[in-house]
Amino acid sequence: MTNRIEIAPGVVHFPGSFDRMAQEALVSSLREVAKAAPLFTPRMPRTGKPFSVKMTNCGTLGWVSDTDGYRYQPTHPDSGAPWPPMPPALLEAWTSLVAYPHPPEACLVNFYDGTARMGLHQDRDEQAFDAPVLSVSLGDTGIFRVGGTMRSGPTRSVKLQSGDALSFGGPARLAFHGIDRIIPGTSTLLPQGGRINLTLRRVMRP
Ligand code: SIN
Ligand code: MN
Repeated sequence: MTNRIEIAPGVVHFPGSFDRMAQEALVSSLREVAKAAPLFTPRMPRTGKPFSVKMTNCGTLGWVSDTDGYRYQPTHPDSGAPWPPMPPALLEAWTSLVAYPHPPEACLVNFYDGTARMGLHQDRDEQAFDAPVLSVSLGDTGIFRVGGTMRSGPTRSVKLQSGDALSFGGPARLAFHGIDRIIPGTSTLLPQGGRINLTLRRVMRP
């Protein structure tokens, strides 16, 4: 059983959920994912401004954002090909860390270079708000900020290291969250540096 720290009601940090070998195995399955579904640069719906992270997805549904809006779709926005399957290790992490009886359909893969960040936002494009969101961090440490369900409320920060998982659900399912910055040089997992975050979500109501 991995260490479980409830940092706020509904927000649970699981430090070191994936050991080094498991992290390396995950990175190699993500290389296969990125071969089938290349990283793309999402854009903000209203302004068309590019995100600083690059993204791809695996699973039956993937999250995309462009001038048509935020949405889930079964295919890659550039190639039109179906997303590749989710690595089994991620489905196993969902089963062991999250108390929800149905599998996630979507795994969003975010790649952060040394200067990328993710502004405060809510995950609200899903229908199944009764399911928690599970995130897995790989590579350089990211400074994760999480608040309440109002943008203006108080927030707290937690450092997410390579191999850590974090879930938010229940009273925190619609909590505002983001990544202030990553700390370059804090992990040797990715030879070129940077951070990968995997976000597993149940999209459809079962
Ligand atoms: C996200 O909320 O999409 C990403 C969070 C993270 O990178 O840890
Ligand atoms: Mn999010």
